[in-house]
Amino acid sequence: MTREDQKKAAAEAALEYIEWDMVIGVGTGSTADYFIDSLVKVKNKLDGAVASSVSTAERLKQRNIPVLELNDTGDLPLYVDGADEATRHLHLIKGGGGALTREKVVAAASEKFVCVADESKLVDVLGAFPVPIEVIPMARSSIGRQLVKLGGQPELRASFATDNGNLIIDVHNLKIMNPIEMEENLDHIAGVVTNGLFARRPADILLLGTDSGVEKITA
Ligand code: 5RP
Repeated sequence: MTREDQKKAAAEAALEYIEWDMVIGVGTGSTADYFIDSLVKVKNKLDGAVASSVSTAERLKQRNIPVLELNDTGDLPLYVDGADEATRHLHLIKGGGGALTREKVVAAASEKFVCVADESKLVDVLGAFPVPIEVIPMARSSIGRQLVKLGGQPELRASFATDNGNLIIDVHNLKIMNPIEMEENLDHIAGVVTNGLFARRPADILLLGTDSGVEKITA
């Protein structure tokens, strides 16, 4: 099975969590895109979806799934999204697509967070994938210096602006032995909007596409 097939299988397996009259949160990235494509099969069950990015909103609209604003819906029963890395503790690194802030907002507003990924995303310790950090533009250099003090190697994502008009710094080589503590430390740097560690609000369920089927990992 290819990695793409594993992503598709995981995305499809998330359909099981959809119930009648739900408004759900939908994430960003290639696995989330496969989920949107699968959603078409059950879209008559849905009242709509809250998108974690402009590109996801576009894809939902193209498939005639109503896109709603989180400000209008209130909290959501379900959020489905991918990840760049995931552990068996359901801690994640997200934001490879740069949508981490809206993803974190929607995840925080959701009762159940189902993460969908191919098996290459499963790691013992987070951090081989650089941690994306959304920063306000005027703070990028001072934040970079703080990140070096934390032991990381910051790299400004070239020619990229987030949906919120900010920049992304990808931080390499962080030693993430305690993801909750690191998430808090990164958030406390002045000018940081959000960081891509999802540990304080981890996933509730990880659906991992593997060669022998979809493995379900829960807390
Ligand atoms: C986007 C994300 C994605 O979920 C993450 O990058 C995984 O992407 P893919 O499903 O394409 O591997 O966090 O900001």
